[in-house]
Amino acid sequence: MNQEPNTLLSKNTDIQPPVMLVTGSAKRIGAAIIRAAHTQGYRVIIHCHRSEKEANSLADQLNKSRANSAVVIVADLAVVNHGAALEDFVKNIIEAFGQLDVLVHNASRFYPSPIGYINHEQWNELFLTNAKAPLFLSQALLPYLKRQQGCIVSLLDIHAHDRPFNNYTVYNMAKAAHRMMVQSLALELAPDIRVNGVAPGVNVLPETDSDQALEPTLQHSIVDSIPLQRIGKPEDIAHSVLYLIQASYVTGQIIDVDGGRGLTLAGGKY
Ligand SMILES: NC(=O)c1ccc[n+]([C@@H]2O[C@H](COP(=O)([O-])OP(=O)(O)OC[C@H]3O[C@@H](n4cnc5c(N)ncnc54)[C@H](OP(=O)(O)O)[C@@H]3O)[C@@H](O)[C@H]2O)c1
Repeated sequence: MNQEPNTLLSKNTDIQPPVMLVTGSAKRIGAAIIRAAHTQGYRVIIHCHRSEKEANSLADQLNKSRANSAVVIVADLAVVNHGAALEDFVKNIIEAFGQLDVLVHNASRFYPSPIGYINHEQWNELFLTNAKAPLFLSQALLPYLKRQQGCIVSLLDIHAHDRPFNNYTVYNMAKAAHRMMVQSLALELAPDIRVNGVAPGVNVLPETDSDQALEPTLQHSIVDSIPLQRIGKPEDIAHSVLYLIQASYVTGQIIDVDGGRGLTLAGGKY
């Protein structure tokens, strides 16, 4: 995916703008990636599971600014566990605009799994969203991405490699598997498809009323640990995702977008 969407739009109206799918993109970082890509001229597929209302409202806004430029697809990523359901999901994705140029793996679950309390349900959910679905979805969409000389970008985590987030063993393991997927597929899919990753530090705190919420004391110690002394913004991540999509000589790379937080993490400290 080495085309400049704005150039495509301005030069030749017969050429359709490229299409990006972002999983879990009704809100937060996923929505920021969708907005940034749309501003650059992409047609966007907003995927969601439970946040259908937010997804529809985002699509309405985008379609108002440019007609027929955004669609919503609702699906639990557990579809990857069933051949027929995955085929239906892929069919919906491709039928939305007739092509797919960029696949962004953003959907995730994130919560602690202290040793002694780890169960299969947590394992299955954290591995499904953070590792299995990205792999099986990439595989299922491969022919379409290949046709467009497309690319894949994965949302990882600075804790996916060497610096585990304390008490989050299963999440850390799943993101580490996803990180290795990025590197393995970059090798296997070259030269047709580039595969890269963005590793956020702390860019949007989990919603306070959700099961993903962080304790206030933990939030303070996190901000203290960030050299740039602020929580990042979803737009910081979107910016790096768009860079990787346009970086035609970059594959298998993971960019930390963390305000320098990775530099201060050591020995399991927050
Ligand atoms: N926030 C941060 O600071 C931070 C830090 C490090 C890494 N990251 C990574 O960056 C990405 C975005 O972060 P975020 O905090 O914006 O993500 P998030 O809000 O925790 O999750 C994004 C979306 O994932 C979707 N999702 C979860 N389970 C799903 C399932 N079974 N099927 C389909 N969709 C499912 C949800 O969609 P619905 O709401 O529609 O159900 C949710 O809105 C994630 O991969 C995350 O691990 C974020």
